[in-house]
Amino acid sequence: MNNDVVMTAMNYANDRPAAKNPVKIMDLSLRDGHQSLFATRGRTEDMIPVAEMIDDIGFWAVETWGGATFDTMHRFLNEDPWERLRTLKRYIKKTPFSMLLRAQNLVGYRNYADDVATAFVDRAAENGMDIFRTFDALNDYRNFETVVKQIKKSGKHFQGCMCYTLTEPRLGGDVYSLEYYIGKAKELEAMGADSICIKDMAGLIAPYDAYELVKALKAAVKAPIHLHSHFTSGMASMSHLKAIEAGVDIVDTCMTPYAYRTSHPAIEPLVMTLLGTNRDTGFDIRKLAAINEVLEKQVLPKYKHLLDDSKVSIIDINVLLHQTPGGMLSNLVSQLREMDALDKIDEVYKELPRVRKDLGQIPLVTPTSQIVGVQTVNNVLNDTPGERYKMITGQVKDLCYGLYGKTAVPIDAELQKRALKGYARGEEPITCRPAEVLEPELAKAKAEIGDLAVDMDDLLIYAQFPVTGKKFLEWKYGRAEVPASVKPITLESVKKQDALIKKAKAGELVEKTEKKTDLPAKSERARSFNVFLDDEYFSVEVDPTGDVPIVATPRAAVAASPAPVAPAPRAAAPAPKAVAAAPAPAAAVAQGTPMLAPMPGMIIRYQKNPGDAVSKGDAVVVLEAMKMENTLVAPCDGVIKTIQFKSGDTVAKGATLCII
Ligand code: CO
Repeated sequence: MNNDVVMTAMNYANDRPAAKNPVKIMDLSLRDGHQSLFATRGRTEDMIPVAEMIDDIGFWAVETWGGATFDTMHRFLNEDPWERLRTLKRYIKKTPFSMLLRAQNLVGYRNYADDVATAFVDRAAENGMDIFRTFDALNDYRNFETVVKQIKKSGKHFQGCMCYTLTEPRLGGDVYSLEYYIGKAKELEAMGADSICIKDMAGLIAPYDAYELVKALKAAVKAPIHLHSHFTSGMASMSHLKAIEAGVDIVDTCMTPYAYRTSHPAIEPLVMTLLGTNRDTGFDIRKLAAINEVLEKQVLPKYKHLLDDSKVSIIDINVLLHQTPGGMLSNLVSQLREMDALDKIDEVYKELPRVRKDLGQIPLVTPTSQIVGVQTVNNVLNDTPGERYKMITGQVKDLCYGLYGKTAVPIDAELQKRALKGYARGEEPITCRPAEVLEPELAKAKAEIGDLAVDMDDLLIYAQFPVTGKKFLEWKYGRAEVPASVKPITLESVKKQDALIKKAKAGELVEKTEKKTDLPAKSERARSFNVFLDDEYFSVEVDPTGDVPIVATPRAAVAASPAPVAPAPRAAAPAPKAVAAAPAPAAAVAQGTPMLAPMPGMIIRYQKNPGDAVSKGDAVVVLEAMKMENTLVAPCDGVIKTIQFKSGDTVAKGATLCII
């Protein structure tokens, strides 16, 4: 055993003597845990049953908020993000709360103006946040200035992050070397960081690199060092141990049901590993087991359908091969699947490092991981051998302009020029702190949303998420009906479903139908249909009863008579998805050129109205896909005849967006 970790005589008792230098632990189950494994879909009502038990463990802090939770809560769960903070604070009274703050990006995906950033930190602190774990995707700490000023003003803990990224398999190389990270830590210390976090979002930090880095940081700066390492590649548990031997102050773990895969190492094995050493956590492993019991029985059955169990392996060696975050990889896979282009995944892997290099070797973390990811997918799907970057996303344009900050190395000059051609803010990139070019946004947001935002908390939802935030506020104040898709599911319905699946697997359901002896005779009018439901399809036969005549084909029926047509496949099939998939009828298409959605997404806005003349290449509609805005351009010259959707509508791939 390493000399830094000394074993003392002890018995396996809960009241064991306290260690000389216990490693401190932050629990991430209630934020990064479900964000990593269950698409951030954790509901507040499912956190309450374990909240007081978690408070009783002795964690240094619990991460409860920030990251993607704010977006997911209002968008998919019909939950007020601010309310979660206040609710959990009523149950967790002793343990400080931590949140993940994307610096000037707050909890959204772009830099917001200083007035929004200041108000957001102020309201988060007022609503109960204690530790602001702050990171910038480019490690450009000019993006910290505004939020840090307010964190300090609110008297809260400022934890500064260094996003850990690599361009080589191990620590080193031209860009991300040991010296780079020591330099970053010193910058953070100079800004008044109360602690410094190595944010290894992709699980890239190798155990011996963790050891070397922590040793060097402990020698270089005074602030406590905190290691956040995702398990994705399988190295995090080992990296934890080596970091602990090197003297790391705090590490991040999850409760077992929220641990491993793309999440974090579990706490229980670490407690046992360190038991009786001078870094003993002092935790009672039986109390942890009791929490797991509640989670397994009462909570996780509602979420296990969200767990990606498409693979048997719980680690992803692609991360080791591509130095890419697991969440980003799963996003790419699901996006390709939605576009029926999963066969292009190898091309995507090849294109990704090229795009990243072109864009200045930026770290891959929200939002840069999406920026690089979506642009990569765009290139693979749209580029031709003669022309690269045919469809450049709005976010890549912003990055090229300097709106996200300074990249680690300069952006490819040719790409930058191409991206900024006709860019609204100007064709010359900026070099100042990005938020300096942003006009204040709060007053404008208030004018737009009006009375629908009752207080500053509402306004901050709208200011960061204009489309989905407005939808949420309409649900919140009863101005629009809450769709069933955002309502919680109950444990009872899950149990019923599980029982049904169990029966089906045992063949009991099939047997029942086979035993039926009084089947009516099938007439010659019976037609068979394929009914598609998500990825499955069922072959059904429809045989009309009574006198209703069935016609040969639905098309002929429309032409021949307006009388109701007997069960067409559309009517028989349950509506599978809340997606406006229906392409325009053939007749409409014939009168103009349809502009089709190249990918599934949500309409942000149309930039043209019916009657407007457009030239080929003009921006017509902004479509959000994978949280990135894509500007779609006119495929030909002409006049906009009709527009099929409105802002906020969800569209499927191939949907007709407008007719030119
Ligand atoms: Co994380």
